[in-house]
Amino acid sequence: MSPTAFITGASQGIGKATALLFAKNGYDLIITARTKDKLEAIAEQIKKLDRQVLAITTDTGARTAVEALINLGIERFSQIDVLVNNAGICMTAPMSKTNIEDWEKIINVNLWGYIYTINALLPHFLERKQGNIINVGSFGGKVPLPNMTAYCTTKYAITGLTETLRLELEPQGIHVSGIHPSVTNSDFLERAVFKDSDPQQMKQMLSSPLVSQPEDVAKAIWNAVKHSEAEVIVGSAKVPTFLHRLFPGITQSMLQLATKSN
Ligand SMILES: NC(=O)c1ccc[n+]([C@@H]2O[C@H](COP(=O)([O-])OP(=O)(O)OC[C@H]3O[C@@H](n4cnc5c(N)ncnc54)[C@H](OP(=O)(O)O)[C@@H]3O)[C@@H](O)[C@H]2O)c1
Repeated sequence: MSPTAFITGASQGIGKATALLFAKNGYDLIITARTKDKLEAIAEQIKKLDRQVLAITTDTGARTAVEALINLGIERFSQIDVLVNNAGICMTAPMSKTNIEDWEKIINVNLWGYIYTINALLPHFLERKQGNIINVGSFGGKVPLPNMTAYCTTKYAITGLTETLRLELEPQGIHVSGIHPSVTNSDFLERAVFKDSDPQQMKQMLSSPLVSQPEDVAKAIWNAVKHSEAEVIVGSAKVPTFLHRLFPGITQSMLQLATKSN
């Protein structure tokens, strides 16, 4: 029987690249996102690789829909081996411009969406005494980013969720990994909500040669599963992340200076 991976946010960007990489490596796939036509197009590509796929549109912020999809996936494939929590949204705004609806929306997808999938799949993993949980976080979950309080709150929460869950589940045979991309060349920033900040300035970063590609992140996810890696920072944010871990006071001052000069 082929192994199966469940990937959220697989209609484009990092999730799409990850789904195709797993398919090329012999996995059957359960993929989800909200946009039907894009998801179906990825499903066709997976079928052309001679893999089976279940592609169902779901809002990962809707608990009962996520639970239903996971039950459907287990019914169809008998087993799920890898969960990749990846569906996420971005918002750039100071706290004073972030209203409660904004907070609820981003926390719902970026945090609750991850908790719902883990909660629904955990009994299956525990019963089999095996499984891989891969949480796609962000370097914004390791280093505070100016004017991104809501986004960083969700991504720091993912870091906490991942690291604590690893302590709990590794002794039970379940591997938990955090993949933290740097700025990556997907439509993520195009689709982001910008309040009181210049979208062009952020988007200009995408033309830098330091930007990662979705395929780089997909490869990191694949390696994390293959080699049971605990945490990977993908791309150019490795250095600031390392510096922030060692010298948080210095990086905080530098980021404040950068914020003032904008
Ligand atoms: N790109 C970057 O610079 C960057 C940097 C650091 C971390 N990351 C993280 O990497 C992950 C993937 O980002 P990406 O760059 O691939 O972004 P992307 O191209 O915008 O893709 C996001 C995916 O999530 C799906 N999605 C969004 N809201 C959803 C919801 N409520 N329910 C189900 N699916 C939903 C989208 O599909 P639909 O819209 O069709 O639902 C899409 O498939 C995110 O967790 C993000 O925080 C990205």
